[in-house]
Amino acid sequence: MTRRRLVRLCAALAAVSRIAFAGTGVIKVDAGKPGATISPDLYGIFFEEISHAGDGGLYAELIRNRGFEDANLPPACARQGNRIVPPRTPHFWTQPKVSDWTMEWNVESKWPGWSLQTAGGATASIGLTDIKPLSAASPHSLQVDIAHLPAHGRVTLVNEGYWGIGVRQGEEYRLSFYARSDAEFGGPLTAALKTSDGRILASHEFAVKPGDSWRKYAATLSAAGSEAHAHLALSFGSRGRLWVDFVSLFPAKTFHDRPNGMRSDIAQMIAEMKPAFLRFPGGCYVEGITVESRPQWKTTLGRLEDRVPTYSPWGYWSTNGIGYHEFLQFAEDIGASALYVVNAGISCAFRSGTFIPDEGLEPLIQDTLDAIEYAIGPPDSKWGSLRAKAGHPAPFELRYIEVGNEDQGPRYGERFARFYKAIKARYPRMNVVLGSWISGIDRGAMRAAGKFDILDEHAYRGLYWSFDNFDSFEKYKREGWDLYIGEFATNAGVGRGNLLAALGDAAYMMSMENNADLVKMGSYAPLLENVNKPDWEVNLIHFDSSRVFGRAAYYMCKLFAENRPDTVLPVQVTYLPAAESPISGRIGLGTYGTAADFRDLRVESGGRVVYQSDFSKDAGGWQTEAGDGDWAVEDGMYRQKKEAVAWSYFGDRGWKDVTVSVKARKAHGHEGFVVVLGKADNRRIEWNVGGFGNHLHAVEADDEVIGTPVHAGVETGKWYDVKLEVRGRTVRCYLDGKAIGEVTLPRVETVLAVAGRDAKAGEIVIKALNTGHEPAAVSFEIDGAEVAAEGKLIRLTSRNPEDENSFEDLRRIVPTTRTLRGLAPHFAAELPPWSLSILRLPVR
Ligand code: AHR
Repeated sequence: MTRRRLVRLCAALAAVSRIAFAGTGVIKVDAGKPGATISPDLYGIFFEEISHAGDGGLYAELIRNRGFEDANLPPACARQGNRIVPPRTPHFWTQPKVSDWTMEWNVESKWPGWSLQTAGGATASIGLTDIKPLSAASPHSLQVDIAHLPAHGRVTLVNEGYWGIGVRQGEEYRLSFYARSDAEFGGPLTAALKTSDGRILASHEFAVKPGDSWRKYAATLSAAGSEAHAHLALSFGSRGRLWVDFVSLFPAKTFHDRPNGMRSDIAQMIAEMKPAFLRFPGGCYVEGITVESRPQWKTTLGRLEDRVPTYSPWGYWSTNGIGYHEFLQFAEDIGASALYVVNAGISCAFRSGTFIPDEGLEPLIQDTLDAIEYAIGPPDSKWGSLRAKAGHPAPFELRYIEVGNEDQGPRYGERFARFYKAIKARYPRMNVVLGSWISGIDRGAMRAAGKFDILDEHAYRGLYWSFDNFDSFEKYKREGWDLYIGEFATNAGVGRGNLLAALGDAAYMMSMENNADLVKMGSYAPLLENVNKPDWEVNLIHFDSSRVFGRAAYYMCKLFAENRPDTVLPVQVTYLPAAESPISGRIGLGTYGTAADFRDLRVESGGRVVYQSDFSKDAGGWQTEAGDGDWAVEDGMYRQKKEAVAWSYFGDRGWKDVTVSVKARKAHGHEGFVVVLGKADNRRIEWNVGGFGNHLHAVEADDEVIGTPVHAGVETGKWYDVKLEVRGRTVRCYLDGKAIGEVTLPRVETVLAVAGRDAKAGEIVIKALNTGHEPAAVSFEIDGAEVAAEGKLIRLTSRNPEDENSFEDLRRIVPTTRTLRGLAPHFAAELPPWSLSILRLPVR
């Protein structure tokens, strides 16, 4: 379409548009020119034991520290005060240099999760013991000494679960534990589920004989009421000594009714994402804080009491209750194939970086071959027979093996080559994945590896990155290998997540789809977060002991999996905004790691003064933003007294075209000071004076430098006259009366689109994203296919780009679906601000 024709069409569209200030454009799909095939495996999931995703999350076990092993130090580590120190052997990257990395040891007691309560004059104590262990994998048990128990006395051992045990009225819970007793303890032992105010929801009395050795006790508890923060109470009915171990409580109802299974509500949400594959068990988890603490699948099989826990780099022990077999089973239960990640003999580079020397790699390679045999080997093979014994004679759908996570460099590539060769020799059809780095591919590792089937790049991005880099995959050379984005998320500058982040993820997935010849797989990360202990800022599904919700990004990922076409169709987008958003809204003052003082601030707009500061008494309406700063009004100044990142704001949402004058001085710290001029395109627009270590004066949009910065710094203790003139999207900067720069914010592409054909459904699927603040009146033009009169429109949006789902508002942002009628080869539709629209158009 010529530009003149577009302008005419846009004018016509604007005229018929119900919205006065809509931008106008055309999305043209060429259905006659099908492109690359979109991989059926494009959308999968990635599970890692982080933020209690497994224990205290997906894994349905309700007792925390059931085996009394949670206070163990990670293998090979020593403790120094409240730090753990790994072995001082060389770091893989910097060898022969040794890393001085240590980790906080925040275990609050010797028996985390457990406490002892006494009442009515009873006296008792508890302690860990490793005498007469229940099993080699569970060497510690809890010794309970009941010294004195008067008639109305009570001794109770309490487990709080994972930030409370979620109990539901009418549900059954399977309790089991091991106990042994001395000659004096005559029982009974009463187990009860209780509310925080002591109400009994269910209970069972067990007879325990004196002088008994380890014996397993089990009962089913039926809950008479509901409580999100219940606890398990074990009460002892006589004096004496008793040892308990492996106390376990499961809801009788688990996902797919599997014993030792998954929590239904969380598993169901995951299943509803319809993932094509499940990547597990990490992530950094695969790497371990040391090579000794890497997960080892063979110790995660069989009886739970015999499973050796694994120390997660995220600071807690995993019971391995979800072991290798359970992962494979879960993948099958949610209809996904499995992608298993093995350690390459290298621990996490950001932790100790310790490694197994090249000559010690063979056992790890053999372990990998055994893992594959366990999953897909015949039931009469050595490892396949264990799978069959565990109840699954048929092979699992293990289709991918990844060697290492975020490992780097030629030395890693060489290790990969050894794994690759051994795996391919025995399992030629197995897809072997080479790890890569965050935000980019590692040519060194690729070259050294030589052959690999898929490359796994990780992509954690800031807000707007995927809007501004919609063509990022187009820049990758096509060299015959496939790309997997094993971990992606828009997770910086989005708080704990919001609609804009989800739209960022949508843009990223759209660019994956559009480059289907290269990108074959992708998975958002991290998947799960127990809100009581987030180890990562932005996660997809949030839960606590009894509730679960998906962020807007969860619905985005789900929509993409549900609406994955199988062939790419070419799309052209032309869009003219009605008006580009001017810099507007509240102004602000701030600092980056610096203390600074401000005074005599004036804001002018439309030729009149709209604000003049008066810091003689108080801050007069300035609002500090939660953060590390320390704002105070002193000596007629507004002072930020800490070397911190800090913000304070004043003004009106409607302010625009302002001139801001202020006197500012750096008190101490690494940088200068910052003046915020409002927002544009949802980004904070600021002038950072003496930024970047006091080297640059730069206009920035959400920390991204716009235009050419000036190489200069500020002097400590010197007052500067700052003046900034904002006109539309242009900022003019003056320091001490001297003009030192003018920057105009570039236009941001706000409408993006991709399209494909879903052969099975006989539909064209168009995904159109409006990332702007104004509605977009769009003409859809479908060439090369005859579109039926009726189609479907699926949409994800909300009123405010910062909106997000929460426990209080679970479904604030969920997709809506409606029928589109009167479709023709050319039809008009409106894309609301901050929205994703998926159009499914049947073709005749
Ligand atoms: O997803 C969280 C972490 O991010 C993963 O453990 C690691 O692979 C990545 O750096």
